[in-house]
Amino acid sequence: MDYGTPLKTSGEMVSITINGQALEVAAGNSIMAAALMHGIDIPKLCATDNLDAYGSCRVCLVEVDGMRGYPASCTTLVSAGMVIRTESEALIRLRKGMLQLYLSDFPAGDIPDGWSEFHRTLQQVGVTDHPYSVSKTHLDAPVDESNPYFLFDPAKCIVCNRCVRACEEIQGTFALTIDGRGFDSKVVAGQDQGFFESNYVSCGACVQTCPTQALVEKSLFPEGYQRG
Ligand code: SF4
Ligand code: FES
Repeated sequence: MDYGTPLKTSGEMVSITINGQALEVAAGNSIMAAALMHGIDIPKLCATDNLDAYGSCRVCLVEVDGMRGYPASCTTLVSAGMVIRTESEALIRLRKGMLQLYLSDFPAGDIPDGWSEFHRTLQQVGVTDHPYSVSKTHLDAPVDESNPYFLFDPAKCIVCNRCVRACEEIQGTFALTIDGRGFDSKVVAGQDQGFFESNYVSCGACVQTCPTQALVEKSLFPEGYQRG
């Protein structure tokens, strides 16, 4: 079970309502974690409970009475009296639209057989394809196989920053960064040297946390890696 954000189980308790259900949760928890503690699984991509919330993918949106727009449930903490909805027509439309955008720049052949967190989230939200005609994609970007243990397929990277955060927060090194902006933003090791030449230490924290298998163990592909 991945609660999306680090759990708080003690301290002051607050009363909230999620989808009409009155709940008591420890203050300091995100809406996402509070919901899952009570069996409500809000779709997510960039959140995982061994890293601090980051709020980049916009898949985990919810509605909160008195709050404008659609706050991200991973970066919004519960507070006393909060009234939250995790399912509505607008939320379903927004989540599907966001996942379809990710899908429009993701190897199509990988969708039916994929087994990553990304695929689980697609299934959870009910997204199997997208309506976009996209002229510019990362689908031709070369795979970095320079590291003996892992490879990096940029076509599967959704730039969620989990690998960079795992490197910093779990391993305490700063070997990975996100370089560039918008469409050109990408994960780089060291000074964009490739994963083998850089000061990347192959600890595996980034591979373990990657939700799309853009970073993945080579041993899973004994016949050699083929992009889907
Ligand atoms: S390599 Fe994986 S973890 Fe890193 S930014 Fe891309 S999708 Fe996220
Ligand atoms: S999971 Fe909340 S913004 Fe990505």
